[in-house]
Amino acid sequence: MRRKIVAGNWKMNTSLSEGLKLAEEVKNDAEKGIPEGVSLVVAPPFTHLAGVKEILAGSIGLSAQNCATDDSGAFTGEVSAKMIASAGAEYVIIGHSERRMFFRESDTELNKKVKIALANDLTPIFCCGENLHEREKGIYKEIVRNQIELGITGLTEDDFVKVIIAYEPVWAIGTGKTATPGQAQEMHAFIRDLIKSLYNAETASMTSILYGGSCKPSNAREIFENSDVDGGLIGGASLNAGDFLAIARSF
Ligand code: 13P
Repeated sequence: MRRKIVAGNWKMNTSLSEGLKLAEEVKNDAEKGIPEGVSLVVAPPFTHLAGVKEILAGSIGLSAQNCATDDSGAFTGEVSAKMIASAGAEYVIIGHSERRMFFRESDTELNKKVKIALANDLTPIFCCGENLHEREKGIYKEIVRNQIELGITGLTEDDFVKVIIAYEPVWAIGTGKTATPGQAQEMHAFIRDLIKSLYNAETASMTSILYGGSCKPSNAREIFENSDVDGGLIGGASLNAGDFLAIARSF
């Protein structure tokens, strides 16, 4: 069966000491128990990866929030998948809406990132999702289909089974608005059908599809109850260990 995953995207938050403290709190709270079959992942800033790895020591997954399109070279300011893997991370978030929006990351670039992440044995958490305008115009399925088709172009089935999808409606990110359970299920089922048409039913049923967008302890249960929702990519609420663990315990 596919994995249930609750991943915390810390975004550009916490100093190093605050981040290490948060990792410690997450680890300690997780040790009190989480539902069977649920995996936790945290995605701190690049500067915290190696330190957080030492604290988590393998019990909780570690993710970066982005990676470069190349392994090394004259790309000032970039951090490669190879470097991320060498710091002990197992995952990398690719194509977050904030990267698409503020850093103009293109589908072609994101496709390269997915491929280089896989080549470095990192599990891509590939994000997709429509903005408010696209939702209101009723073109949200086409938008998400395009993002996924272009982002995973050229991936064999063996490659794709390693990918996690995160559906994050942009209008629900950091806004306090959440997709209704029905809206989330509709899109997750749509994405699973799309994977089925691109690969096959088995691959589709094995793919973890996470929901992201103002997921909190108060609404996680009703979102996670949907049959095609396999967990969450949590922003703001993941900066508080208690809230993050409460979300994981909503399963
Ligand atoms: P919020 O949970 O803060 O809305 O952020 C969601 C998100 O972007 C996770 O990647």
